[in-house]
Amino acid sequence: MRPRIAILTGSKGRGSNMAAIVRAVQSGAVPGEIALVLSPKADAPALEVARNLGISQVIGSEDLETHLDPGRVDWICLAGFMRLLPPTVLQRFPRRVLNIHPALLPKFGGKGMYGHHVHEAVLASGDALTGCTVHYVTERYDEGDPIVQFSCPVMPGDTAETLAARVLELEHLAYPLALRYAIERDHAGRPGS
Ligand code: GRF
Repeated sequence: MRPRIAILTGSKGRGSNMAAIVRAVQSGAVPGEIALVLSPKADAPALEVARNLGISQVIGSEDLETHLDPGRVDWICLAGFMRLLPPTVLQRFPRRVLNIHPALLPKFGGKGMYGHHVHEAVLASGDALTGCTVHYVTERYDEGDPIVQFSCPVMPGDTAETLAARVLELEHLAYPLALRYAIERDHAGRPGS
């Protein structure tokens, strides 16, 4: 059976990673089908983006537990979702929940490290490289095993905005690839990591 993928977006996010995953599934680059695009808020901009991409199951609801049901969904991709998933949901999907973070974890991750905070911390560190990480989700922020990391340079004169834009381009490549690898690894029955 084709893997059924749910994408969980934030309430305010653009939905650009969600769109990258949807397009990769629609083109056949990622095996599977989009079962659901979900956001905790009905007016989330990402939901409109999903509708425009032709996704019929687009739901704005705080009630994640009902919708993330293993009878209907096999994989969950967090894309701009800022909260921790309830442990009851994670237990239903062991090693089937992925997240993307806009830095090279384990650096610049954890609670409070999101959006411009991440890129400001990278600039303050003086690191020459930054990037993104797609990882399995656990009950703690940004701590699961990484699946794919892509890096890019920090350039002279960079601001949090220019860095965020460079990293975002990488994110759109990394997330579909990581999802494909995770599905293939799962299919092959490998323990992973
Ligand atoms: C991305 O930078 C992602 O790394 C982080 O939240 C942002 C979501 O952006 N988790 P978008 O909504 O996918 O455009």
